Amino acid sequence: MMAVVRETFDVIIVGAGLAGLYTALQLGSDLKILILSEGDITGTNSYLAQGGIATAIGEADDSEKHFADTMACGHFVNDPEAVRVLVDEAVENIRTIEGFGVRFDADERGYKLGLEGAHAMARILRMGDHTGKTVLSTIYERIMEKDNITHYDGAYVYRLITAGGFCGGVEALIEGTQRVFMAGSVVLATGGVGQLFSNTTNAIGIEGTGIAMGIEAGVKTAGLTDLQFHPTGLYGNDHYEGRHFLISEAVRGEGAILRDEKLNRIMDGVHPMKELAPRDVVSKTIHEVLANQSLPYVYLDATHLDESFFRERFPTIYECCMNYGINPAHTMIPVVPCMHYYMGGLKTDLDGNTSLRGLYAVGECSHTGVHGKNRLASNSLLETLVFGRRAARAILRSSGKTEDLRWIHLREVPYFNMSFGSLQNWMTRNMGVVKHYDEISDMRKKLEMALWEPMGYRLPNWEDLRLFHVSVLVHEMLKKTIEERDENEV
Ligand code: SIN
Repeated sequence: MMAVVRETFDVIIVGAGLAGLYTALQLGSDLKILILSEGDITGTNSYLAQGGIATAIGEADDSEKHFADTMACGHFVNDPEAVRVLVDEAVENIRTIEGFGVRFDADERGYKLGLEGAHAMARILRMGDHTGKTVLSTIYERIMEKDNITHYDGAYVYRLITAGGFCGGVEALIEGTQRVFMAGSVVLATGGVGQLFSNTTNAIGIEGTGIAMGIEAGVKTAGLTDLQFHPTGLYGNDHYEGRHFLISEAVRGEGAILRDEKLNRIMDGVHPMKELAPRDVVSKTIHEVLANQSLPYVYLDATHLDESFFRERFPTIYECCMNYGINPAHTMIPVVPCMHYYMGGLKTDLDGNTSLRGLYAVGECSHTGVHGKNRLASNSLLETLVFGRRAARAILRSSGKTEDLRWIHLREVPYFNMSFGSLQNWMTRNMGVVKHYDEISDMRKKLEMALWEPMGYRLPNWEDLRLFHVSVLVHEMLKKTIEERDENEV
């Protein structure tokens, strides 16, 4: 039998979005750090982030106001301590990334702040509509300058190596070969779950692998039923790079209006903030309009905005719409709600510690409780910075010693008779803005049976591992959804 190659580092970070890369930079230059990711930085949700980073930095603003908006948007079930940390540590982390070379849009009067849903005022630091791309690219330049950081992209991490309540490494497939990486600290920064749905704004590959690996290893989770649907994904059956292109909430922040086919303003009388109501309210309203009027989409009307303003403020959106034959300054944009953000994940404390010693989670795969039931727009990139730095500091405080775990590497994985595409469609139909509980109950049982009695086992390969992870995670999500329904009925 071929020996499995084994390498040792001080810290392993899984994921190359902002959470992973910023955590790596915050670890300093003395530790030997490995970043593992399936693709390069362009395959992350951070890279796609259009809106920006919510920060109470404007003259009329303060962290109390940001705190209040975050709590109200999250239906007041957020962990107030986590929200306090998020808003209080925002500015110092912004200063840090500015020190790395990030430059937000500004003029002689100061930052040009964007307005998004459920914010009482404009407080989004941004760069046009490509904030994530520009911030992440700058941070990655700093990563490339570091001799102590190694980055393998093309690595599918599929298993946490654990023993005696401790995580000491990961197994990964690289070019089809099993590899083993050991470290005193492992950080999961694998993002959310959007690609479990066929209608999502998320990048390909964002399907909850990190959370599934955690569940498999017995790590505590929280908020698994808390899915956020963005109101305005560009409608289209021919998906744009495997996802629905996002029409940023900032377009509504600049005055765009949601209309039905008869041109009625659909948010009239629904919420005092109209188009800028919390996302869950806007998505639910659109869903009802689509169902009641049997429409495939509603319209986002930005035709009253000046074309040169639109092109300059939203260059990415303008270009994508034009590629679809829509000039947003002349024609209304067809939009539908799409799965966008996962509030659930691996439960952590305020320093990224999960329930498994040596395992940390940061960003969308974690659950600090900061977002409650509904994340406030542009709090997600902020979360990656604030809690990424905290996790890095916790790692630096820990012994970080790589324990010599006796592990048994995975020789075989279960396989199922299931297609990923049909599961994505099923999730879209049944676990969307409206839940279909009978179907959910049936699917949960089917997945339980499949996990209990797979069709067989074979050598680790990407297709089987992927379906295994997806089944583990979806099963858990459906189970919690049914439990929550039952609790609400009591
Ligand atoms: C958007 O630009 O609408 C998305 C921002 C976010 O999800 O926070």
